[in-house]
Amino acid sequence: MKITSEQFGITPAGDEVCLFSLTNNQGTEVKTTNYGGIITAINVPDREGKIDDVVLGHDTLERYLNRSRYFGAVVGRYANRIARGRFTLNGDSYSLATNNGANHLHGGLKGFDKVVWEVRELSDGLQITYLSKDREEGYPGNVRVTVNYSLTQANELRIEYLATTDKETIINLTNHSYFNLAGSGTILGYELMLNADAFTPVDKGLIPTGEIRSVANTPMDFTSGAVIGARIGDSYEQLRLAGGYDHNFVLRAGTEQLKQAATIYEPKSGRVMEVFTTQPGMQFYSGNFLDGSIVGKGGTAYIKHSGCCFEPQHYPDSPNHPDFPSTVLKPGEQFEQTTVFKFSVA
Ligand code: GLA
Repeated sequence: MKITSEQFGITPAGDEVCLFSLTNNQGTEVKTTNYGGIITAINVPDREGKIDDVVLGHDTLERYLNRSRYFGAVVGRYANRIARGRFTLNGDSYSLATNNGANHLHGGLKGFDKVVWEVRELSDGLQITYLSKDREEGYPGNVRVTVNYSLTQANELRIEYLATTDKETIINLTNHSYFNLAGSGTILGYELMLNADAFTPVDKGLIPTGEIRSVANTPMDFTSGAVIGARIGDSYEQLRLAGGYDHNFVLRAGTEQLKQAATIYEPKSGRVMEVFTTQPGMQFYSGNFLDGSIVGKGGTAYIKHSGCCFEPQHYPDSPNHPDFPSTVLKPGEQFEQTTVFKFSVA
C-alpha cells in the first residue's frame, strides 16, 4: 500500500484541503480528501484489466463546495432523516437544523460532509478526525469522530468509524459514495443481492412509518438477486413515494459482527462489489434525485440512476422509534462501526 498526497484547494474559510491517493499492488487506487472525508475516486480493474473510476464525484474542490449531493462523503452526525428535526433524550427536547422540507437530513445544513477534517497518515491508510462541538446543528455534546480508511491487497476498502462524547447524544455515521461499476451509464442493469428480509417503509417525506415490513412478494426482495431496473417502475407504493429505491433495509444477522450486506454485479465490465458491515441497516438509494443538473468528473452530467448508494447505517429516525436499534451514545462509551467495500470481477 502506497500513499501520496497533493494540494486539492483552499476553502472560503482559508483551510487547506489535500487529496490523498491510496494504491495497492493490484492496480487499485482510492482517492480521498480531508474536506468532508470525501472519497473522490475508486479506480478498479474490470475483467479485462481495464481500470475505470467507479464512483461519482467532481474534479475540483470548488465543485464539491458548491454542487454536491453528498458524493462520497462521510455523513453525520446523523446519517439519513430525523422527522421534523426533533427528538428527546432523557426528557430534554432537541431541535436540529431542518434541511429537507420539514425534516433533518444527513447532519443538517453543515454536516460532516462539509467540514475540514484533521488528517494523519497510517501505515495502511489514512485517519481523519473531527471535533463536532456541543449544539452543532442542534446536537448535544462535544463529539470527537475518527474515520480510518484503508485499502488491502484483496481490493477491500475498509472504513472504520469511531466516536466519543462528553454528553449523552445520538450518532449515525455512514459513507455516501455513489457507485457506477461500469464507469458510465446508469445502474439499472446491475444485478443486486441484498441480505435483507425486511425494510422500513416510509411516508411521503421519506420518514419511516415505524413498520418493519417483509420484502417477500414485493419489488424490495433482492434476497436471491435481481436486476435493479427490473421492478423499479412497478406501481408498488413505496417505489412511487421515493421515485425508485431509497429505503433502509434491515440486514440479516443483527448488529456487531461484520456481515455481508450486499453483492452488486455489473455484467458488461464484470465488476463485482460486495458490501460488509457491522451496522444493522443499509440505505439502498438508486440515485433518484439525480436529474442531469449536476455535471461531475470529466464533464459528465449525472442523470437519474447514474449512480447508486449503499449506505450502511442505523435506521432513519431511530431517535423517534424506541423499538429501532438505539443510536444513543453516552459519555464513557465508544461508538464503533466498520464497513468494507470489496471489489473483484466475475
Ligand atoms: C440519501 C437519501 C436520499 C437523498 C440522498 C442525497 O441517500 O436517502 O433520499 O437525500 O441521500 O441526495
